[in-house]
Amino acid sequence: MNDNATESRGSIAPAWSPNAPKGGRAVIRRMLSESASTVPLFLGQTFIQSLRDVGYNNTVWAVCEHVDNAVQWGAQDVRVYFHQRGRRGDIKLDVLILDDGQGMAPDVLRVAMSFGGSMVYDQRDGIGRFGVGMKTAALSMGPRLEVYSWQEPGAFYAMELDVDEIGNNQRNVLDLPEPSFRERLPSEVAEILVGALEYPKPDDQDVLAESRDDLADKLGAHGTIVFVPNCDRLTYKQSKTLCDHATREMARIYRAKLAEGLKLYVNNRLVEPFDPTYSMSQARHNFVPELIEKGVTRSTLKQAWTVEIPVEEGSNVTAPVSVRLYALPIETWQSLPRKVLNNDLRVYDDHQVSFMRNGREVDIRAFTELSGKRHANSIWLRIQVDFDGRLDEALGVAMTKQGVRPKKYALDLIRDKIKEQVARVRENNQKVMAENALSKSKGKQSEAERRAEEADAFQRKPLPETPAESAELEQNVRALALRLRRGGETAEEAYARIKDARYVTDFKHDDYWPFYAVEYELGKVILTINTAHPFYMKLYKPLSELAAPETEDEAREGEAGATRAGELLVALQMVLLSLARTQSQMAYGSDREEHRALFHALQTEWSDNLKTQLRLD
Ligand SMILES: Nc1ncnc2c1ncn2[C@@H]1O[C@H](COP(=O)(O)OP(=O)(O)OP(=O)(O)O)[C@@H](O)[C@H]1O
Ligand SMILES: [Mg+2]
Repeated sequence: MNDNATESRGSIAPAWSPNAPKGGRAVIRRMLSESASTVPLFLGQTFIQSLRDVGYNNTVWAVCEHVDNAVQWGAQDVRVYFHQRGRRGDIKLDVLILDDGQGMAPDVLRVAMSFGGSMVYDQRDGIGRFGVGMKTAALSMGPRLEVYSWQEPGAFYAMELDVDEIGNNQRNVLDLPEPSFRERLPSEVAEILVGALEYPKPDDQDVLAESRDDLADKLGAHGTIVFVPNCDRLTYKQSKTLCDHATREMARIYRAKLAEGLKLYVNNRLVEPFDPTYSMSQARHNFVPELIEKGVTRSTLKQAWTVEIPVEEGSNVTAPVSVRLYALPIETWQSLPRKVLNNDLRVYDDHQVSFMRNGREVDIRAFTELSGKRHANSIWLRIQVDFDGRLDEALGVAMTKQGVRPKKYALDLIRDKIKEQVARVRENNQKVMAENALSKSKGKQSEAERRAEEADAFQRKPLPETPAESAELEQNVRALALRLRRGGETAEEAYARIKDARYVTDFKHDDYWPFYAVEYELGKVILTINTAHPFYMKLYKPLSELAAPETEDEAREGEAGATRAGELLVALQMVLLSLARTQSQMAYGSDREEHRALFHALQTEWSDNLKTQLRLD
């Protein structure tokens, strides 16, 4: 039977779950039955448990709250530990954050442990402002928080919050006790700080202290430790994964602070800044050997804007955001090995738009409202938006400081400033990608040329024989290859492509030429496409661009669409190659002069008519 039914008095019985905090249950029953004269604004026993679900997306964001505090209170060295204990199947994980900041005096520490307790409440120029980060972030990972803080060597003040203990407390109003004083840290804390952890490899760890005596020294004159033992709500179940994930994310989230000299360690391994905009001179991309070899290690700042945004819609009070648009060096980088692009540079991650609040990243993603529709060409641009806490409301920064949800008016102001330049960068990327797709065919036949040749065996009429003057043939083919050589192709590559080819496609840019032309030379059908004609601009080029992402970025969105576009492009090319074949076939034999004249007229007049029609839109 439900205990609410057995124990309820009258109709006002709380219908609590059997797992609900026992102390809280006792308090609420007492208040209901005794018609208590005072009821606290917060029922601590339950509220602290509810706050465990305040909504950190993952362990990294929760740990960031503690790193934020450390940075804000003057730390130069911050160490994050994911400590794994126990055997397989019964693994226990502790999280600990140590900093060498100014520490807290006992009274400050006590206030700091209360929800809403802050030394910087509603200040907008630092990272902290809500007075909850330390408590809610810690409890989102585990049911118990211990804080040790000192402002003299070996004089630690300790406070704790234990969700279960508080839940069992039967007092109506809960108070925080005085911090306790101790000369040494408890052994389960010291154990983490002394020597190497189980991950990463000992050689990769720059440990804080070698022994407990050494530790006392290393902890220095001031600092703070946040300790969350026995975590039950971490994103991953192993310290290795937690450590690697945190290292990767924090390298980016704290890049500006790291560049300014902050030393951040995760499991004793120093975190190097990673800059998704590839503009910082200290960040990791500057040291990727393949980039150094190419001589291009950085992106280009295309433009920077300062946009004044009202702190609330319609307000006269504004605060600035700095918006910077970067173009990645697509020309040189797109030919980098996939491994470098993916693993070292993370070019294909959704890193288009990064929001930095007071120098700490709060969001990064393919923010289409600013960077435009997702497409292979948007991968090669980056936007960084820097703002301070005055714009928290306008940009939608919540208590957990993870993610932004900009209000429409704020977003419109930013977008209007940058959209033209963004479009320009994307256009350029598109152009480079298309050129690259062309040059990928260096020394190779196109798919359409190959298929057209294959089909020749089944054509009813053969192509006309051409005299095989074998001695001069090679020389002639070499001369032809030189004439048909493409941009980026060596003479040898062009020769290799053309030597045995039946069908060859060439491009020419001439305002007065027909949209296509045909020659039949040395037994080869040569089709020339005029890139100055609207046929190319309005049909051929857009289709090849749609098809391009297939080679450029298979893994991403639009893969199926790109494949289909690729097939359509081949079909269009074969329409033209079959036309070229037909003309070649018919312009030989007895009527050749007459046919040639006719085809010439057809090409010219069809081109004019097509040009007129395509321009009428
Ligand atoms: N590592 C630390 N070193 C020194 N003081 C700290 C540290 N961590 C927390 N504090 C003190 O504790 C207070 C409460 O921290 P908490 O993170 O809960 O709130 P906050 O930082 O003020 O605001 P927010 O909720 O936005 O983080 C801080 O205002 C600060 O005075
Ligand atoms: Mg804080």
